[in-house]
Amino acid sequence: MTKRIAIIIGSLRKESFTGKIAAALFALSPASFKLEQVRIGGLPIYNQDLDDAETPPSEWTAFREHVKKFDAVLFLTPEYNRSIPAVLKNALDVGSRPYGKSVWNGKPGAVVSVTPGALGAFGANHHLRQSLVFLNVPTMQQPEAYIGNAAALFDANGVLINEGTRDFLQKFMDSYVSWVEINLHKC
Ligand SMILES: Cc1cc2nc3c(=O)[nH]c(=O)nc-3n(C[C@H](O)[C@H](O)[C@H](O)COP(=O)(O)O)c2cc1C
Repeated sequence: MTKRIAIIIGSLRKESFTGKIAAALFALSPASFKLEQVRIGGLPIYNQDLDDAETPPSEWTAFREHVKKFDAVLFLTPEYNRSIPAVLKNALDVGSRPYGKSVWNGKPGAVVSVTPGALGAFGANHHLRQSLVFLNVPTMQQPEAYIGNAAALFDANGVLINEGTRDFLQKFMDSYVSWVEINLHKC
C-alpha cells in the first residue's frame, strides 16, 4: 500500500541547499512512497494562551489536521547557531499541542541535516533528535545523514550532481523505506 510521507524542511530560503537535498530525495523515493512537502513558514509563533482560547489560529488547526493524515515524517534541516532554525522548532511545538494530541506521535521519522559548512550540521541534527525522542517519533538511527559542503554538490540549476552524495541518499532512502515499514503503527 502507498505510504504518505510528510517532508518538513527547516529552511524558508528560495535557493535553500536543504530544499535541494529534499528535491533529490523526492527523485530517489520508490513509487510506493508518496512524499509531500508540508510548509511551515506561515505558522504563527506558538503561544499557549492561543491554544487555551476557544479558537486557536486557523493556520495551527489546518497544519495539525494536515500532518495527521501522513504515515511518516522526514525532517531536513539546516543548522542555525549549532541548533535547528526557529521555524522548524515552532512547527514541532505547534504540532505537539494540545498536550496529549501531538500529531507527531508514533510517526516513523528520519533526520537529514545540511550545511555548506564542513561539520554536516551535526548540532542541528542532534538537537532535532532530542525533541523527537520526547515526541515519540521513532527516528532512524542509521545511516545518519550529515550533508556537508553543500554548496559544491549542485549544478547551476540546483540539481544534485555529486554522485557520492546521490548514492548515499539512495542508501538513506532505501533504509528509511524499511524503517517506515517496520515501525508503522508500532508506537
Ligand atoms: C542565523 C544563522 C545561523 C547559522 N549558523 C550556522 C551553524 O551553526 N552551522 C552551520 O553549519 N551553518 C550555519 N549557518 C549557515 C547556514 O548553514 C547557511 O546559511 C545555509 O545555506 C542555510 O541552509 P539553507 O541553504 O538550506 O537555507 C547559519 C546561518 C544563519 C542565517
